[in-house]
Amino acid sequence: MSKVFVLNGVNLGTLGTRRPDIYGTRTLLDIERLIKDQFPDLDLEFRQTDSESEMVALIREAAGAAGLVINAGAWTHYSYALHDALEALDVPKVEVHLSNVHTREAWRRVSVISPAVDAVVAGMGAHGYVVAVGYVLDTGTEGRP
Ligand code: DQA
Repeated sequence: MSKVFVLNGVNLGTLGTRRPDIYGTRTLLDIERLIKDQFPDLDLEFRQTDSESEMVALIREAAGAAGLVINAGAWTHYSYALHDALEALDVPKVEVHLSNVHTREAWRRVSVISPAVDAVVAGMGAHGYVVAVGYVLDTGTEGRP
């Protein structure tokens, strides 16, 4: 099985203590474990960065991978750089948000990266990552719709 990249952007390293009322109490390590429990054979590249340039580099690194799942955090709402990096990446791609961004501030309802991905999951908490990884693995077998 080839590699699946799960990338977490700015401020997501503080999960567990950051607004648990919105993002839940699971840490990123807990989320990584949850994915590994569900997909024990998966070759998982699970990363977090607060640097936008490092995130662009990680997205480029995913060329040739089985798929990419990204929670870009606040970059979602304004980073054309991430949009362009994702647009150039030809693998199954899913944007994930722990919270339901559509029920929150108006600016969170805008995603500039959504046009560059295949699917968006929001509001399922940590489970959204599992759904997204399942999608990219299934898509690798079935083909993208
Ligand atoms: C988030 C939603 C974003 O608006 C926010 O900036 C985050 C987390 C989420 O997972 O719900 O950092 O992407």
